[in-house]
Amino acid sequence: MNRDYRNMKSETLFIRKRKPFPDRFKDKVAIVTGGSTGIGRGIVEELCREGAKVTFTGRTGAAGIETGNELKKAGYDVFFISGDMIKEEFCKEVVDKTVQKWGKINYLVNNAYRFIDKGRDATEQDWYDVLFTGPVAYARMIANCAPYMEKEGGGAIVNISSISAHIAQPNRWTYNASKGAVHMLNMCAAIDLAPLNIRVNEVSPGTIWTRETLRGVWEASPDAREAFFKEMNRRQMVQRCGEPVETAGAVLYLLSEDASFTTGHELIVDGGFINMGQQGMKETTLIQDAESKTKKVNEAG
Ligand SMILES: NC(=O)c1ccc[n+]([C@@H]2O[C@H](COP(=O)([O-])OP(=O)(O)OC[C@H]3O[C@@H](n4cnc5c(N)ncnc54)[C@H](OP(=O)(O)O)[C@@H]3O)[C@@H](O)[C@H]2O)c1
Repeated sequence: MNRDYRNMKSETLFIRKRKPFPDRFKDKVAIVTGGSTGIGRGIVEELCREGAKVTFTGRTGAAGIETGNELKKAGYDVFFISGDMIKEEFCKEVVDKTVQKWGKINYLVNNAYRFIDKGRDATEQDWYDVLFTGPVAYARMIANCAPYMEKEGGGAIVNISSISAHIAQPNRWTYNASKGAVHMLNMCAAIDLAPLNIRVNEVSPGTIWTRETLRGVWEASPDAREAFFKEMNRRQMVQRCGEPVETAGAVLYLLSEDASFTTGHELIVDGGFINMGQQGMKETTLIQDAESKTKKVNEAG
């Protein structure tokens, strides 16, 4: 099936709505890398709904411009900058332009990533791309933002990692090893930035409905799709995939003052995947209407 999963609209796919804490981030400035689609877009939207001014990035222009236009139309203060996080000068440009536009930086969410899944077949270029878009860009952004956060008396950073940082998965040396590096970067940055009153935390999603997850669904036959949903339901205690807005809620918590005593921490948002035994869910523990939870997604196909 030829589905344009890159441009799926959230209203046809996602059913969860989050109640914002009004004005929690009023007059605050945040940078979200890779905010044009998926989880990043969810984070941008939720930050806006709670009063923040948000700079967000994307590699390609079209999706970011569209997201920016939609959010501006809704009355939010957003600023889209297109470019590749792999480039050191772009990591600097994002920070400089944000300060020029909004005057300060309070929060950073490192989210942009390349899903490069390679094992023994990984080339030099694959390793370079995954490491320099991932942990290296994350580190550069942290280093570039820290002086501006210090100026404001402190700040908060969230690094988006993955449950893949902790488990072995077939043919995923590049992605999993680079997310493992993000996990360690998170702890080291937290210790170094603590004296500046900057908290650094990590959110590790499980399977979330974004274009990468959807690719497998839309490219499968209808029969294979049913099998995919059944398998997904079995693999997670909550028996469904997550939605970007559910990851955003965790990110906003860690950025907020509610997490003022939390740093160097990893918050896993995976529907119970990682804490489940290898046998997965048993028939007796399966929620009977689990499939209806993914019905919306099925219908959209
Ligand atoms: N979805 C999941 O199930 C899942 C699970 C665990 C962890 N995660 C993590 O969650 C984060 C977001 O994933 P997602 O599923 O939302 O991905 P996504 O839908 O593919 O979105 C990725 C975003 O990052 C941008 N991006 C990618 N490479 C970039 C680069 N080199 N420079 C600048 N921007 C770049 C993309 O821009 P363009 O559209 O212009 O390319 C897009 O805005 C990633 O860190 C991922 O590893 C996701």
